[in-house]
Amino acid sequence: MMINQPFLSLAEIDEVVAAIQSQTRYQPKVALILGSGLGSVADAVEDADSIPYASLPHWPKSTVHGHAGRLVIGKLQGQVVMVMQGRIHFYEGYSMSQVTLPARVMQRMGIEIMVVTNAAGAIHPEFEPGDLMLITDHLNLAGMVGLNPLIGPNFDELGPRFPDMSRSYDRDLCDLARKAAQKNKIRLQEGVYVFLSGPSFETPADLRFLRVCGADAVGMSTVPEVTVARHGGIRVLGISGISNKANLDGNTITTHEEVLEAGAVMGPKLEKLLRTFLSSL
Ligand code: HPA
Repeated sequence: MMINQPFLSLAEIDEVVAAIQSQTRYQPKVALILGSGLGSVADAVEDADSIPYASLPHWPKSTVHGHAGRLVIGKLQGQVVMVMQGRIHFYEGYSMSQVTLPARVMQRMGIEIMVVTNAAGAIHPEFEPGDLMLITDHLNLAGMVGLNPLIGPNFDELGPRFPDMSRSYDRDLCDLARKAAQKNKIRLQEGVYVFLSGPSFETPADLRFLRVCGADAVGMSTVPEVTVARHGGIRVLGISGISNKANLDGNTITTHEEVLEAGAVMGPKLEKLLRTFLSSL
């Protein structure tokens, strides 16, 4: 349905920016995208302006259980932040241009740092459900087969036609996240996140393939937004909440309920880490 919709224009992106700016007193410099089951961090934002996605032009609506659909703009640990409570996934049927509209809007709003979180399945054998994983790099598997969000007309005012992706996850921000984890005695795994379109979970053969390719965690989000954010020069920190062990041997099954339950457990841990991280910026 929507996959073949035309690409969003710069004017349309700026219409969204204007709609947000008309509904908030703040000019955030940091944006947070909250993954499946991890939306509770948004409730910690103080003096918040809350903007439902439905009030924004062109903004895709989140259709997945476990994703509220609103922007929460306010203060967290002394930083003015814009939190996306609920994200949009490619598997919902939106075009890559729509899925990454929020990242473009962030860029046009002057956001300098994007913190992106997600729920992910563990491929690395030592990762356990409930662990947090610092994303140090990603495999854009869907991008490699033609679903790259930068396909289409390039707006030179937004970024170069052929952007470098070698340091997608900012090294200084990674260091701050490591320190924040240490300070809170939170075990922070590190690894490579692989993006698949979903919505079906992986077969055991898919997972063994991904392991050989160097993936440590697997999920259905994040990479499109990060690709667009990096194209636009936004610095990125990525954290996966490990919700389940991926099923490389075919002996267990994976469910969305399991992902949401693990998210509820990880929420408070993620909030602690992010609070310390934000304080150290
Ligand atoms: N696979 C893909 N996406 C996921 C998983 C998984 O096991 N867990 C949470 N998101």
